[in-house]
Amino acid sequence: MTLRGLDKETHLAPWSDPKGPTLTRAGQTDPFPENEQLRKPMMTPRALVTGASGNVGREVIRALLARGVEVRAATSSCVTRAPLYPEVETARLDLRDPATFAPAVQGCSALFLMRPPAIADTKRTLNPFIDAARAAGIGPVVFLSVAGAEKNKIVPHHAVEAHLVARGGEFTLLRPGFFAQNFGDAYRLDLSLDDRLFVPAGEGLVTFVDTRDLGEVAALALTEPERHRGAAYTLTGPDPVSFYEAARIFCEALSRPIRYEPASVLGYGIHLRRRGLPWGQIAVQTLLHVGLRFGQASVVEPALASLLGRKGRTLAEYARDHVALWARAR
Ligand SMILES: NC(=O)c1ccc[n+]([C@@H]2O[C@H](COP(=O)([O-])OP(=O)(O)OC[C@H]3O[C@@H](n4cnc5c(N)ncnc54)[C@H](OP(=O)(O)O)[C@@H]3O)[C@@H](O)[C@H]2O)c1
Repeated sequence: MTLRGLDKETHLAPWSDPKGPTLTRAGQTDPFPENEQLRKPMMTPRALVTGASGNVGREVIRALLARGVEVRAATSSCVTRAPLYPEVETARLDLRDPATFAPAVQGCSALFLMRPPAIADTKRTLNPFIDAARAAGIGPVVFLSVAGAEKNKIVPHHAVEAHLVARGGEFTLLRPGFFAQNFGDAYRLDLSLDDRLFVPAGEGLVTFVDTRDLGEVAALALTEPERHRGAAYTLTGPDPVSFYEAARIFCEALSRPIRYEPASVLGYGIHLRRRGLPWGQIAVQTLLHVGLRFGQASVVEPALASLLGRKGRTLAEYARDHVALWARAR
């Protein structure tokens, strides 16, 4: 069934080749001049996902693919395909190298932007990249910020948020709390080598958020930009848990004893240094965990559940779904 020359099902003019635009032959008169618009090359919406191999980016890709969105995965390395998603095309994007900006965004209409942890100077990296993306006609930008970034000028995300607001256009800010995925990342070796959690968080409660849920929120914001335009969402998990409770959760999931040893600031610094972390990262990680003692990440925010229409994933679900990550390494 066609409607004025437009195939209802495919939204392609029946005379056009789906692989490329074939316009009316020269000299032919189109009986429907309003079809001019329809004959223009169809722009396939394609989202560029930065940090594609990271905790959040890979979940953004998963959620976008599930919604049928075409994705381009950005990487600063020289691989040609994102190893997690061999079907997804990749583009080289090094946020420290402006020469990579324009080719990476070309042909994309939406952007998921994250700040790699090693990049502190966002004014010379992420902000010019945003400008390049806007200049290339990128529509909605979803930025992975951090809880409290609006009030905290020290975190690098603050300047990116301010730049997006000043630059205008469609954007959505995601401000998550502590990731559940830190247990499979920053805390992973402590769990698999020592069967312990070792952070200077005292008895502080944390509402760990699962990056799988963040991926789904990002996909929502990218695919329904008019609903989320200019919004800033603080995103947490559904339950506040202490690291004592987290140890109990992992003990149950891994079927072996796991303990929490509250670290002192000095002890934690020495521990991270022995693991080879640079001083800058040690300072940031220590500061963040000491903040937990004062309840900085203890509040459950309603945004995630309200956006997804369901409760966020719990830490116990995260642990159960990823047990292989903490197989004993001895
Ligand atoms: N961990 C938490 O609890 C937490 C909570 C709230 C907010 N955050 C924020 O979330 C962000 C981290 O997200 P994540 O955990 O998903 O990241 P991640 O797993 O640490 O991955 C970092 C990503 O950055 C990419 N990357 C590294 N250098 C790059 C460069 N020069 N140019 C372009 N890309 C580069 C890496 O990919 P390639 O190597 O392929 O380039 C990788 O995909 C940070 O901004 C952090 O502050 C974290």
